[in-house]
Amino acid sequence: MKKPDTVPTTSAIILISGYGTNLQTILDQIISDQLPIKIILVLSDNPKAYGIERAKKSGIPTKIINYHNFTNKADFHQSVKNSIKKLDPSLIVLAGYMRILSRDFCHQFKGKILNIHPSLLPKLKGLNTYQRVLESDDEYHGSTVHFVTEELDSGPLILQYRTRIRPDDNPERLKKRVQHGEHQIYPMAIRWFAEGLLKMVDGETLLMGKRMTRPKVLEET
Ligand code: GAR
Repeated sequence: MKKPDTVPTTSAIILISGYGTNLQTILDQIISDQLPIKIILVLSDNPKAYGIERAKKSGIPTKIINYHNFTNKADFHQSVKNSIKKLDPSLIVLAGYMRILSRDFCHQFKGKILNIHPSLLPKLKGLNTYQRVLESDDEYHGSTVHFVTEELDSGPLILQYRTRIRPDDNPERLKKRVQHGEHQIYPMAIRWFAEGLLKMVDGETLLMGKRMTRPKVLEET
């Protein structure tokens, strides 16, 4: 039976800095009708980000705002904010975007920004999480989808992917498994948002109207 033609109503902007495997998964799921969003822009701070090529191949508008062309950080943030504000997106997806957002940006788009971070937040905020977790006594590593607020990697949690650390793990092996999980949890959370099931209210995550006291966890199988 032919599927009814549906018009996605959630307009999304994806921010990237690098290779763009999460972006690719999102693009693939849109094409296969699993994700009811329309990407109106892929924006990168890094002119060499391969994710820009992925977006172009899918016919998505792209924009590069090269961080290194700015002598003043505030001007860079202003430029990113203005480019996004004029498109008035329903959702902003950080998919490997490696710049810290300004407080003003987080405030302007409050409740509309999702991020994926490669650790089981609140553990291991910041960079080099694979190396750091291997140097710790932790049994598990993973990735977390969360709403973005002014404090770095600290917004309300939504969904995590968890994998047990193996004796022969190194940062690369662990990253491969964690990213495999990211490609499952990020589209899932984006779909919940697009379907109106996921919201941030008063600094907390609501899923289907219920306050979440802890993130949902998808275990590696
Ligand atoms: C992802 O693994 C994501 O968790 C991480 O960057 C990677 C981007 O990969 N994000 C952060 O570290 C943000 N603090 P991708 O470009 O292949 O999607």
